[in-house]
Amino acid sequence: MMIKIADDVYFVGAMHWDRRLFDELIPLPEGTSYNSYLIRGKEKIALIDTVDPSKEEELIENIEKLGVEKIDYVISNHAEQDHSGALSRIIESYPMARIVTNEKCKQFLMDLLLIDEEKFITVNDGDELKLGGKTLKFIVAPWVHWPETMLTYLKEDGILFSCDLFGSHTATSDIFSTENVYNSAKRYYAEIMMPFRSKIKQHIEKIENLEIKMIAPSHGPIYKNPEFILNAYRDWISDNVKNEVVIAYVSMHGSVEKMVKYLIEVLIEKGINVKPFNLTVSDIGELAMALVDSATFVLATPTVLSGIHPLAFYALYLANALRPKTKFVSIIGSYGWGSRIVEQAKEMLTAMKAEVIEPVMVKGQAKDDDYTAIKKLAEKIADRHKEIGILTL
Ligand code: FEO
Repeated sequence: MMIKIADDVYFVGAMHWDRRLFDELIPLPEGTSYNSYLIRGKEKIALIDTVDPSKEEELIENIEKLGVEKIDYVISNHAEQDHSGALSRIIESYPMARIVTNEKCKQFLMDLLLIDEEKFITVNDGDELKLGGKTLKFIVAPWVHWPETMLTYLKEDGILFSCDLFGSHTATSDIFSTENVYNSAKRYYAEIMMPFRSKIKQHIEKIENLEIKMIAPSHGPIYKNPEFILNAYRDWISDNVKNEVVIAYVSMHGSVEKMVKYLIEVLIEKGINVKPFNLTVSDIGELAMALVDSATFVLATPTVLSGIHPLAFYALYLANALRPKTKFVSIIGSYGWGSRIVEQAKEMLTAMKAEVIEPVMVKGQAKDDDYTAIKKLAEKIADRHKEIGILTL
């Protein structure tokens, strides 16, 4: 796919319509795209990032369609292979090209792709590169979501090539269609950016000074209305949470499910929104997305070999690693003869800075006293939501 996005600026990347997993971990229900961009200055030609290795021939074909005989610079905003995977192929086809990146990214590319140091030009934050009527300014932005990440701003056109920041895993035939992008961008933020929320905040503050007319990320649609995605990010990275409880649950023989159903019922009665995820059938990306701005997270699990059910263990591990801004967390569980669920869960919650509301553990099926305890848990959650001003009933 080769598309003009501004005068002498082209999308030359590739759609990966049927990719369903990223890093063998992240579900891709809408596929993804690898957005490489070519900028033709009066004197020099620059390519911004490349594509995943599986699409390198498509990148070469797209560049050839433009009748480009040389590439002077390949700007490497990020060393991960969905951006850099075709770098070696580009250098082979365009041997005069030099890779322009920051020192840290250079080191990564030398280690990951075994590229010679002489192929690189290193830049620092704020440096500019003139192509002739087109000027690239480099903004070093670590932890978007690796330590070497960088953004590139095309001054004359006001285009921010934002690397993974503001991206979405979406394959699309209309690179400018942002009609349905909110959820996929939120999912992407949840899976990739959320652990680095404070860094993302700093980067967004830094780019507020730029006159941005278009945001061209490395995945998914290009934003002709940058405020749309900037406002979404401002909301996600803020400390604001919603009057919502995310419940991730597994039930082996039905007792946990009954407890979860009752908890849902009471929470709804109290005016709290609920997002339950049966972990045996849930897309883990949906769970991550729900954790972006929910006030409370509840894990519900039976006891397996004295501990948390493996599916619930995985969900809790991910929830903790993603470091959502969740304010409150609790656990409900069942056991037959003994359980270390609560201790295990508390030990795992090292990064999620949430207050633990007293868990409810039940022997076998829940009885009247247990339902009363679950009701009390719902009441405590409602009280906390009131205290922070998100529940006003
Ligand atoms: Fe798009 Fe971090 O790779």
